[in-house]
Amino acid sequence: MARQSLSRKSLYHLQRQQLLHPQKTIEKMLKQIYDNNQIIIGWPKREKRISAHLARKNTVAVIGCALGDEGKGRIVDNKIASLLHSPHIQRVYVIRYGGGNNAGHTIEKNGYKLSLHVIPSGILHKKTLGIMDRGMVIHPEDLTTEVTYAEQHVGSLKNKLLLSEEAIVCTDLERAEEILNRIRTGRAKGGTGRGVGPSYAHHYDRLGLKMFDLLNSDWENTFGNQYDRYQKEFAGFDLKLANSEVPDFRSIKLEKKTKSRTVGNKKEFLERLEKARTWIIQRDMVRNVFLLHATIYRDATVGVVFEGAQGIGLDAWLGTRPDVTASDTSVYGIRTGTGFWKPTDIAERIGIIKGPYTSSVGERQLPTEVALPKNIKDLPKTATAQQKWAAFVRETAHEYGTTTGRPRDIARLDLAMTRYNAVMSGVEVLAVTLMDIAQENQTIQICTHYTRNGMLTPYQPGLRYQEGSTPHYVNLPGWDGTSCRNAKTVVDLSSNALKYLAFIQAQTGFPIVATTTGPARENMITFPGYTCE
Ligand code: IMP
Repeated sequence: MARQSLSRKSLYHLQRQQLLHPQKTIEKMLKQIYDNNQIIIGWPKREKRISAHLARKNTVAVIGCALGDEGKGRIVDNKIASLLHSPHIQRVYVIRYGGGNNAGHTIEKNGYKLSLHVIPSGILHKKTLGIMDRGMVIHPEDLTTEVTYAEQHVGSLKNKLLLSEEAIVCTDLERAEEILNRIRTGRAKGGTGRGVGPSYAHHYDRLGLKMFDLLNSDWENTFGNQYDRYQKEFAGFDLKLANSEVPDFRSIKLEKKTKSRTVGNKKEFLERLEKARTWIIQRDMVRNVFLLHATIYRDATVGVVFEGAQGIGLDAWLGTRPDVTASDTSVYGIRTGTGFWKPTDIAERIGIIKGPYTSSVGERQLPTEVALPKNIKDLPKTATAQQKWAAFVRETAHEYGTTTGRPRDIARLDLAMTRYNAVMSGVEVLAVTLMDIAQENQTIQICTHYTRNGMLTPYQPGLRYQEGSTPHYVNLPGWDGTSCRNAKTVVDLSSNALKYLAFIQAQTGFPIVATTTGPARENMITFPGYTCE
């Protein structure tokens, strides 16, 4: 061990070294390509994927490498379509392995915008089966609401959607606890109010319940005891559990208005749960998914897509703490979230980022954020060029929450964070979305690194490490978003857009294998390495 502590600068370089892309040659190549002013996007020719010989063919993981809402659904959708296009593949399992209905995916189906939360979005394809696996948090009542709502628009999902008997059950008790935590800590917000944090916490302290507990014949006893325990704990805070208000997501979903309800007394609580339980049993959707994985793994006619929720920036350990979710959002989360698949089993591991910017919801204030009024109409005439850019981004990309409609914060793309996120996430390649959110006459700022007191400082997970540090930007020229949208192949992309992608590759060390250029399915361009052979 060195006797003296490392200077910031050497720590920064040590981190760069340690955080080399696992395939160092690739990283070097991408840097050289950019330094030589070449525009080559994608996985370098003739280079092999590291774990290609270990992986189960036709398996894909789609992982958010920013702060959620990166556009993972598009890539999931495309990957399923191309797997099903293969003559060897008869069906595709789409697996959600983490998160709960704190996640929101918007899917366009027959011109209708469908928002899904726990149902894997890929399930809307024919010949797919969805699994909500053991790493997920499921609120039984909200599950019935979401499935019923989805079925009104896409037809029956019966026999298409399976739920692990090991999935974590979330009830109004955990939701009331999330609200109680806000009161206890004085933090006005913190979570999405869906009880996801407390549910994961009780997975770890082993007080929480699983789907098999709900299906057991003595469920009433088990959940009744849970109610009693919560009642005592609430009484300790001089609160009456029965009167505690929780968000009523059933009404929010169906009536599209914010509503809350009380947890109710034990009888009312159990009655609501029983209704959902009966529905779940009638659907015959709960399985020992572990055994199913073994069958899937051996069946060469089956493709598998792991649909990540949230992003590495929201990961409980790697994210922008304290404003993070409670699950492992990385490829490694697939190991715990399925109990079967290891990262090395997965042939394609794709990280998703938004290209021209990053968006963020929640309390966190990113150092790269551009201050905007809630309502863009209130932007003053004296607004800076960056504010005008951010306003353009919010409006053009419609950066408003899927469920809440809340305007999202707009920040510059942070390559220090992206590089960290990508390396730690276990992905091998990147897909860059929303490249049409640009204008020819606009400069795009990208953060490349941070300094503190004039010294280079490494990116570390946890917001407090960025607080008080200075982001450094490079200015890259924008491109015409409209012509980007019309691009059919790589040659149609403007050289500024391609240079921008080459810069991301050089700075992160990750090949970009796909980019999306508009909202429609066909607005997507792929590069070498999108599918690894
Ligand atoms: P929780 O996951 O409900 O506990 O919320 C914790 C934090 O993660 C909050 O700031 C949420 O806004 C954020 N969060 C959770 N899920 C998502 C998501 O899917 N997209 C973006 N932010 C999310």
